[in-house]
This record gives sequence, C-alpha cells and structure tokens, in this order.
Amino acid sequence: MSFCDLKGKTILVTGASSGIGRQAAMQIAQHGGKVVISGRNPVRLKETFESLSGDVHQMISADLLIEDEIDLLAEAIPALNGIVHCAGIVGPTPVKFIRQEDVERLFKINYEAPVLLSGKILSRKKLLDDASVIFLSSVATKYPYFGGALYGSAKAALEAYSQSLALELVGRGIRSNCLSPGLVNTPILTDPAKEGNPEIVEDSIKKYLQKYPHGIGEPRDVANAIIFLLSDESRWISGSNIPMGGVLQ
Ligand SMILES: NC(=O)c1ccc[n+]([C@@H]2O[C@H](COP(=O)([O-])OP(=O)(O)OC[C@H]3O[C@@H](n4cnc5c(N)ncnc54)[C@H](OP(=O)(O)O)[C@@H]3O)[C@@H](O)[C@H]2O)c1
Repeated sequence: MSFCDLKGKTILVTGASSGIGRQAAMQIAQHGGKVVISGRNPVRLKETFESLSGDVHQMISADLLIEDEIDLLAEAIPALNGIVHCAGIVGPTPVKFIRQEDVERLFKINYEAPVLLSGKILSRKKLLDDASVIFLSSVATKYPYFGGALYGSAKAALEAYSQSLALELVGRGIRSNCLSPGLVNTPILTDPAKEGNPEIVEDSIKKYLQKYPHGIGEPRDVANAIIFLLSDESRWISGSNIPMGGVLQ
C-alpha cells in the first residue's frame, strides 16, 4: 500500500465543479478512491467528472442554498469514508454596507450548507466509522482583509462547528478537521464579479499578495493536504485547523 492510499474509500466532494474541489476530486481518484462529486453548474461539474481517472465515480448536481437539494444529495449518496466541504463564495462587503441579505448570502453557503449537509448525512447513517470530514476555512479568520468581515465570520463559525463535530463523533473514530488556506489561484479570485464588487476584491488581492513569502497557492497545494487528511496516515489528527500559505508578512 502506498502513502496516502485511498483505495476502498468513497469520498463526497462539494464544490467539485471548480477550483480546489475539482482538483481534490481528481487527486482522490488518482489515489484510488471513489469520488462522489457535487456542484451547482452541471456543465462544469461534468467537465470535472470526465477528468477523473477510473470509472467508479458518481456525479450529483445540487444547489446547496436550497435545503430540499441538500436532502436529495444526502439521499442519493452512498455510505461515505470521507466528506470534503469545498462549496463556498467570497462576496466582499465592507462593514458599513452590510445588510441582512449579505449576512444570509455569506453564511448560507459558507456555514449553513456544510452544517446541514453533515447533519443530514449523519442522520441517514451514511458516514462510516473512521471517516474523515474536511472543511475549507480560510486564513481570513485570523488575518482579516478589507471587505472580508462576513466571509471571515462565517468561516470562523465553521471552525468552531468542526471542533464540535470532532468531539461528538470521536467514539466512532470519525475525525473532523479544517484547512485554512491563504490565497489560492482559483476562479473564486479571478471571477469575483459574480459574487461581489470586483474593485474591492482586486484592491484587497493586491494588498494581500505582498504578504505571501511563498507566493500564492495553487489548488494542488490544498488538495495535497486534503488527500493526507482523508487517508489513514492522518488517523491521529482531529479537531485541528491547519493554516496554509506560510508565515504571512
Ligand atoms: N481560493 C482561495 O483563495 C481560498 C482561500 C481560502 C479558502 N478557500 C475556500 O475553499 C473553498 C473552495 O474555493 P475555490 O477557491 O475552489 O472557489 P471556486 O473555484 O469559486 O469554487 C467554489 C465552488 O463552490 C461551489 N458553490 C458555490 N455556491 C454554491 C451553491 N449554492 N451550491 C453548490 N455549490 C456551490 C461552486 O459551484 P459552481 O461553480 O458550480 O456554482 C464551486 O464548485 C471555498 O469554501 C473557499 O471559501 C478558498
């Protein structure tokens, strides 16, 4: 058996139609795992599906803002050895412009969706003993950026949730961890117009870039850590939050 072998494991990846989720799905398949990929955009989800090595994988479209679709996803998936919660948006909003709809928009996909999905999978008994659950948080919870109040708050709430999940499932050997990357080169950065004010994002990105001694990350950098956390090699790690991107300057 090679290091970080995922043979025999079935892993659900949300946000698999783009960026980190897509890369994670591809690497899980390369490590021998079966992947159930989910995303909102069916065309891009199919692109991911077609790029997976092997033919055992499954693809289920779902808009995780809609609770019925979360239910359908939880119903359709097989029993899992792991979940990678990648679906998320940035949606920059400076504090003085925050309205109720902004709070809902940022918290629904970044916090509520992974929380509800985890619960619905557990209540259907579809998370197997010794499984590994991974949440994508962000360095923004510790290093705030202009316009990132809601994003950072939603991710901080997710970090707290992950620790409770780790505590409640310890008896079954199930682990829960967060990864907190700094800037990663994905469409969440290059196509910010769909979820917020592109000028604000561009401005924050320029300032943020100067802080990275190792440069910004690539999806593979995060996917490598995801593979490790899914594998039995990380069996002693739970309730943790791993920052990624080096020591910010
Ligand atoms: N890139 C970074 O710098 C960075 C840094 C730290 C943490 N993160 C976190 O890493 C995760 C992945 O980000 P990324 O950079 O890979 O972003 P990305 O390329 O924009 O991918 C985001 C994914 O989330 C999915 N998604 C968004 N809203 C959804 C909804 N309502 N229902 C279902 N799926 C939805 C998207 O699906 P569709 O495209 O199909 O709509 C897409 O697959 C996010 O949680 C993000 O907060 C990213």
